[in-house]
Amino acid sequence: MEPGTEQIPDKLLSRISIAKQELEHCSDVRVISHYDADGISSAGVLCNALLRADKRFHATLIKSLTEEVVAEATKDCEFLILSDMGSAHLDELERSGCKTIVLDHHAPLRDSEKIIHINPHLAGIDGMTSASASAMCMLFAIHLDEENWDLLPIAFAGISGDRQAIRGLSGINKWLFEEGTKRGIVKAMPASLVPSGPLADGLCNSIEPYIRGINSNPEGARGLLEEAGIPVDATSTDIDDAQRVRLSSLLVLRMVEQGVPLSTIEELIHERYYFPKRKIEAGDLASLLNACGRSDKEGMGVALTLGDPEAMAEAQRLRKEYTSEVLAGLDRIAQKGVTQLENIQYFHNDGMGLSGILCGVTMQYLGDRDKPTIALSPSGDKVKISSRGTFELLDEGIDLAEALRESAAAVSGTGGGHRIAAGAMVPKEREEDFLNELDCKIGEQKAQKKV
Ligand code: C5P
Ligand code: C5P
Repeated sequence: MEPGTEQIPDKLLSRISIAKQELEHCSDVRVISHYDADGISSAGVLCNALLRADKRFHATLIKSLTEEVVAEATKDCEFLILSDMGSAHLDELERSGCKTIVLDHHAPLRDSEKIIHINPHLAGIDGMTSASASAMCMLFAIHLDEENWDLLPIAFAGISGDRQAIRGLSGINKWLFEEGTKRGIVKAMPASLVPSGPLADGLCNSIEPYIRGINSNPEGARGLLEEAGIPVDATSTDIDDAQRVRLSSLLVLRMVEQGVPLSTIEELIHERYYFPKRKIEAGDLASLLNACGRSDKEGMGVALTLGDPEAMAEAQRLRKEYTSEVLAGLDRIAQKGVTQLENIQYFHNDGMGLSGILCGVTMQYLGDRDKPTIALSPSGDKVKISSRGTFELLDEGIDLAEALRESAAAVSGTGGGHRIAAGAMVPKEREEDFLNELDCKIGEQKAQKKV
């Protein structure tokens, strides 16, 4: 077996050891995590590990961490574990005095000596590309008990859901893959643009790649198969290599005609990670967990990670519904277009749970590639903002986490996230001010880079 190429920094290992020692002294644990695929898979890894360690736990999945949530969670709480969040709320967590572990991967503004702060950025590893929150939870779980290596498929759903596999694995994600390979838990599979299962259905009813006239268009999908010389009722295992190549080439051609850049196409064709014992691919599990979270059925997602067979059937049903809602949203954006400001582009969308995915797909397949994409969704007296960029925009100096945090703060809102994908919550009446602030801020970031 080849030796691994990645190492886990001592700084992380020593904090994980402290977290393990502290956990040994408690019996009840409150787990709070984010509601997307990475957040649910983080909670899934933690809950499975706590169950095995004979700890009682209460897990809650939330859309965003606020001062009120921290106050509620830390009240009468013996031990709190926050995953996929927390690094931006160290002040409140320290004030609460509750014994707390934070397993997060968002770039922190500072470190903490009062709480056990476990974040890859503190050890020089980029949490946007090289360590999902679920990967951090997995590191913790295997230090609690080697038996927890079998939770690797759940952790990989978070890596895949947070798009950390699109340019190949690195950092902690790669270390987990290498160690998982040695243990025979995970297998890398070649990349393919051809959907698995019935082809016409796969082309028509998948979110990515999003190709006008094919996705949510059964006739278009069948027409493409005919053009590739493939029977319209064929499945992925029925076709030969020549048909596979013809279909892949036609898909690439359609994307190029639509103006989709090569980098997006390359990101689509990334290696997949298959878990033979669970008979599932990481991207497949990620899309099931994501559909649970975005349909307000986060608990179903955690049940799925705990091996509940009914949860699998329900998650598959939710994924179907979620996919058709996302495709309807994308069709609307493709028809109506997005509004252009000087440095950003934006669109409105009613379903708050869909804004992240719509924003990401619009950035990659429909919008202007030279500007970050912003989605705005009503949420009571506030507006929920999602933003997505590209690696090329990051090279131009754009940092969406900083831009959203500062532009939201300027209109009495809150925001944060990663450089390439960030979010915010702002008062409804300040929406226009926020967009103008953000437009200026992005312009400033680009200008600063040029100096
Ligand atoms: O929960 P988290 O905080 O880490 O969410 C990050 C979000 O950013 C996910 O929805 C993920 O799909 C998205 N993302 C993206 N493009 C990337 C990296 C992350 O759209 N390159
Ligand atoms: O909600 P969405 O998927 O667009 O979130 C993108 C990223 O921004 C996530 O990493 C999320 O944790 C972060 N975010 C944040 N503050 C908010 C909303 C989102 O830090 N108010």
